[in-house]
Amino acid sequence: MYRFRDYYHNQVQLSFEKNPFSDLPKHVWVVCRYQGKWLLTNHGDRGYEFPGGKVEENETADEAAIREVKEETGGIVSYIQYMGQYRVTGKEKTIIKNIYFAKVSELVHLDDYMETKGPVLLDALPENIQTDRRFSFIMKDEVLQQSMRRAEGFLQE
Ligand code: GTP
Repeated sequence: MYRFRDYYHNQVQLSFEKNPFSDLPKHVWVVCRYQGKWLLTNHGDRGYEFPGGKVEENETADEAAIREVKEETGGIVSYIQYMGQYRVTGKEKTIIKNIYFAKVSELVHLDDYMETKGPVLLDALPENIQTDRRFSFIMKDEVLQQSMRRAEGFLQE
């Protein structure tokens, strides 16, 4: 279990065990790979981030992960693997988010990418992501580094 503060100084707990905080998390976040690159979305307010969002009433977290990748990037998920979960304790509310690794086999053009401006493909994430204003605050804490270490393990397979 890792404990640290996020960009806004909220307490974060992160674990790569199976569902350490909740069996029914309400949020998902998906580290995506497409044609040898990292596939992110450009969120209208927050900037570049791996796709994700809220689990809807009628779906599982795994289903939400696949749907969010499609809606925010046009990516068709061909492989998805649960990696871990984190809890952010905010002043007003606490959120629990599943982290996935996914491979995308096809990138379909959409006219509407919901609240995002659509896909962003990167060969590598920059070293100075914490100070890079193009990137979303959700990419600026230890969740990213720990998740990337594990995701890179899947690239060898
Ligand atoms: P609505 O219910 O639609 O109004 O959403 P919201 O704006 O309250 O956001 P959401 O429920 O997605 O998240 C609530 C708060 O949790 C946000 O304002 C963030 O501070 C925080 N949060 C959400 N996702 C993350 C994340 O991936 N990392 C970190 N560190 N904080 C997050």
